Amino acid sequence: MVTKTINTVEALQALISQHKSEGKSVGFVPTMGALHQGHLTLMQQSLAQNEVTVCSIYVNPTQFDNKDDLEKYPQVLEADVALLESIGVDYCFAPTNAEVYPDGTQQTVDVNLDGLDEKLEGEHRPGHFAGVVQVVHRLLDIVKPDKLYMGQKDFQQFTIIGKMIDELKMPVDLVVCPISREESGLARSSRNVRLSPLDRARGCIINQTLLEAKEDITTLSLEALLNRARQRLTWEWTDLEYFEIIDGHTLDPIKNVRHHTYLVGVVAVWIGGVRLIDNRVLLSEKP
Ligand code: PAJ
Repeated sequence: MVTKTINTVEALQALISQHKSEGKSVGFVPTMGALHQGHLTLMQQSLAQNEVTVCSIYVNPTQFDNKDDLEKYPQVLEADVALLESIGVDYCFAPTNAEVYPDGTQQTVDVNLDGLDEKLEGEHRPGHFAGVVQVVHRLLDIVKPDKLYMGQKDFQQFTIIGKMIDELKMPVDLVVCPISREESGLARSSRNVRLSPLDRARGCIINQTLLEAKEDITTLSLEALLNRARQRLTWEWTDLEYFEIIDGHTLDPIKNVRHHTYLVGVVAVWIGGVRLIDNRVLLSEKP
């Protein structure tokens, strides 16, 4: 099965409207490339649930608050397309900036996000979510998929996109896929290749800390849970940005475990010059 790479909006839309006229369902997985097994789990879910799967590979400049991070972002289109082909993804949409933003990048999406974009990652990466919302909105407008696949790895990101879809009543179902982890427990990320082997092994401490918090969420006080987790993540080789226990709906750090039914541990920590984020649902209202 050959994956077709498409660079223009016009060409992609022609193919998609052909499929839609045949009554086929379209699944869409937006990415920034440098694909790994975590990305592929999203594609596999889309392949299982749709007749046509589109993956986009586009390093969106408007979501990078740090120019250095944008410049260092790995770009390996050929290897990515080979991976997509190996699992049978139909289309790889790899547009230029001019295709995505024909009128420039000034125009942002006017949507009420209830401040979801301002906390946690938003506080540490100003403007980041405005850029994510802008590009996902534009990509949805181009692809018009039936289903959109996003990873739980970026908890705040999928929550914000879900809010945008609800607020703007966009006709698409958001499907959230579980976090895919390396054998050590480290969440897979395109940034992991920048870690030294030692730091990559050390990164397992993040998942261990989240698991430990989950184990004791109903028995320990909030203070004890937070203190222990923050201590576990503090070494001479780490720089902890935050460890919080948040309400999964509002994304606000909680004050009392007993007052909530949906709790998520969220963490951002620097290891070996690489910023790593991870999360785990600690308490869920779902059975
Ligand atoms: P990127 O970091 O390439 O991630 C693309 C998608 O893969 C996101 O939905 C992300 O949550 C998911 N993902 C990444 N690592 C994962 C893992 N270990 N397990 C499960 N899912 C994982 O997120 C972005 O790109 C961009 O912000 C984007 C949405 C494409 C907008 O530019």
